[in-house]
This record gives sequence, structure tokens and C-alpha cells, in this order.
Amino acid sequence: MTITPNSWQLARRAARMNPSAIREILKVTERPGIISFAGGLPSSKTFPVAEFEAACAKVLQDDPAGALQYAASEGYGPLRERVAHTLSQQSAAAGVPWAVDPAQVLITTGSQQGLDLVAKVLIDAGSKILVESPTYLGAVSAFVPMEPEVVSVASDEYGVVMDDLQTKTANARFLYVLPNFQNPTGRTMNEARRAAVSALATERGLPLIEDNPYGDLWFEAAPPAPLSARHPDGCIYLGSFSKVLAPGLRLGFLVAPKAVYPKLLQAKQAADLHSPGFNQRMIAEVMKDGFLDRHVPTIRALYKAQRDAMLAALTQHFGSMPAGDVALPAAPADTRLTWNRPDGGMFLWARLPQGMSAQDLLPFAVAQGVAFVPGAPFYADHGDARTLRLSFVTPSVEDIHCGVAALAVGIQKYAASLQAIATL
Ligand SMILES: Cc1ncc(COP(=O)(O)O)c(C=O)c1O
Repeated sequence: MTITPNSWQLARRAARMNPSAIREILKVTERPGIISFAGGLPSSKTFPVAEFEAACAKVLQDDPAGALQYAASEGYGPLRERVAHTLSQQSAAAGVPWAVDPAQVLITTGSQQGLDLVAKVLIDAGSKILVESPTYLGAVSAFVPMEPEVVSVASDEYGVVMDDLQTKTANARFLYVLPNFQNPTGRTMNEARRAAVSALATERGLPLIEDNPYGDLWFEAAPPAPLSARHPDGCIYLGSFSKVLAPGLRLGFLVAPKAVYPKLLQAKQAADLHSPGFNQRMIAEVMKDGFLDRHVPTIRALYKAQRDAMLAALTQHFGSMPAGDVALPAAPADTRLTWNRPDGGMFLWARLPQGMSAQDLLPFAVAQGVAFVPGAPFYADHGDARTLRLSFVTPSVEDIHCGVAALAVGIQKYAASLQAIATL
């Protein structure tokens, strides 16, 4: 018998693993010379290289056998303790005490693995799961192979809309939420919405998956306390070292209630036995003595300056654009680009005038030397084709100004092409 491509019978779930729409778009936008607002990467300027160099040497000196040996699936004890301590401290400071026990902390290979473990442990074929609209595409990619029914909950500038959530909780396995500086919209759930979601989840017995990789990157004030602090037995909290230290180490964590922790741990064991022990020790070494208290403010200052530059450039190029400049033949009421003002994180969300599509705009923008990610792929149901995600963390302030100017020209050329088609 010879092996042919047809000899490989793929599992049903494999058919549901598709190349990320965004990865495909990024390939187009990664040409040299393009100013990219498209990427989702943290700025490499923020990586504490010297500290990692010193920590690497120290870890190998102190306990080389321990650092290089197989290790516990739960994670490195001192790192779990530090995570528990930091979360407890932060929630107390935000006014909602949450006594996180290190025994509830599971160190994961990035928070992306946390999402994968959640999918394996909580989703059966046909299970209903609720997500924000739009939501983090990487989470949907982790959930979808388990064959759930993914239901989008209508969302506004503060996250899920309560009236819609009320109608959708029946038989849902969980609601996946990103309360802080959400990817892709940059929005933050305010205190009132957190209290309402938490109260409804408690009343209905709806588990929450709270994903918080950006929460430390606030610009003016720390965000309200996590949902998990209000509802600890009903939440799995996901965190990450990617945005405050370095994503290349692939380390994150989850905090889970006793009822599900053992299963998540078993799924973790099956997936990779444990996250790299050497990396965990390096991070613990770097973090000791309060390093993050000094380091994270420098990331906030850098990103805030860049967010401010993007807001200023948008106002300069679009704020004063008279209605009609990019008006389309149907003469819609809203003819201007609009955008939000994220209070932290890495992304800003914008919407094109009525009748335009961000996907169709992209080649016009790339021709002007600037790239972004269209927003539609971030919706689990029918996407809003007019939306786009702009990352402000990797380009310099100067490039942000040039890139937004190029975007304005791209939009005008795109609008002109639509006018031309309409007058044919
Ligand atoms: C909302 C969200 N969750 C999870 C992740 C995964 O992060 P990591 O696996 O690097 O911790 C990302 C990455 O960008 C993200 O934006």
C-alpha cells in the first residue's frame, strides 16, 4: 500500500482550523517601507534585555539542574506565588479584595494556551458559548475546533450589552470577556458594566472566562477590579507576561476555581507536561525586588505618547474633514472616519464612512505606504465591514503622523474610486 494525500483522514476538528484571516492580511502589509498599524506585537523597545541577561546567568548559576530538568505541571512555585500576590494586591487596590491562592494558579505557555485548555475542558460539540462582538480572534480559533455554537453578544463602548446578554445566557457554557483595553477595540468595561455582568453571571450560574493580557498597560488610571475578584468561583482568569516582559518567552497563567483546576491541569499535562521551567525561573528572577513596578510605567509612558500621537494625527487629518469630503453617492448622514480613545493597551478602533469597506480600502492604503487590519474578521458573526484596528505601539511618533496622513490620502483615493464606479 502506498501512502497518498488521501490516506490522511483528518479529524473533523481539523477542518475547522483555518489560517488566521489576520495572518494572511499581515503578509500583504509586511512589505518593506510600509508603516504598519496592523501588527499586534508589543514594542521590542520595551523588552528588558539586560535584566534577562543577568537573570539567565543567575538561574543557571543557582540551580542549573532544576532549571534544565522536567518540572511540575502547575508551574514554578515562586512564580505562582508572585502571580497570586500581585493579583490579590491589585484587586484590593481597586476596591474588590480577591484572595488568590497560589494553588489556584496554573502557569501556561502564553495565555493562548490558557484559551486552548479552556476549550478542551469546557466545550463539547454543539455547546453554546458567548463572546463579545467583536472579540479576540485567537480565542475563537482556540474554541472553534471543539465545534461549539459561538454566539456573539451585542457590545457597545463598555463591552457586552446587558439586554442582549440577558436573552442569551440559557445553556451557555461560558461568556468569554476582555474587560481591559480589549483586542481589537481598545475598549474597557466600566465599573457599572462589570458589576452588572458579574451580578447576572452569579444569578444565572454563567461561568466567565476573563482574558486580561493588557490590564497593566493603563495610561491615566488603573482599570476597575477584575470580574474574577467579584465572582471567584465562577471565573477563570487568564493573564500573560507577553505584554509586560516579552512574548518570546511564551509564558502566561490562569487562575481557576477548585471545581475546574484539576481538569485544566490534566489538559495541560497532556498538551506539554509543563511550560518551560527555565523561562519561568528567569521571569521569577527578573520580577523579584519589584522590577515590574519600575518597568511597566515605562511601557505605559511609551504607549501613551504613541496613542496621543495617533489621536492628534487622526484629529488633524479627519477631525476637520467637512462632511461630504468622502461623501458617497447615497449621501449618507455619517461621512467621516470616527474612532475611539482607548485608555490603555495597544489598539484603537475606527469606523469608515457609510458605504465603505475596510477590506476594500486596504490596497489603497498599502499603495500610500500604510497598513491596518480590517475589523470584520474579529466578529464571530456578521462583521462590521467599516471597522478597522489601528495599533499604535510599534511605529514611532513620526511614523504615526506620516502613516495617518497616508491613510487619509488612501481613504480619499478609495472614496474617489467609489464615486467613479457610481457615476459609470
Ligand atoms: C486578548 C488576547 N488574549 C490572549 C493573547 C495571547 O497572548 P499570549 O499567548 O502571548 O499570552 C493575546 C495576544 O495578543 C490577546 O490579544
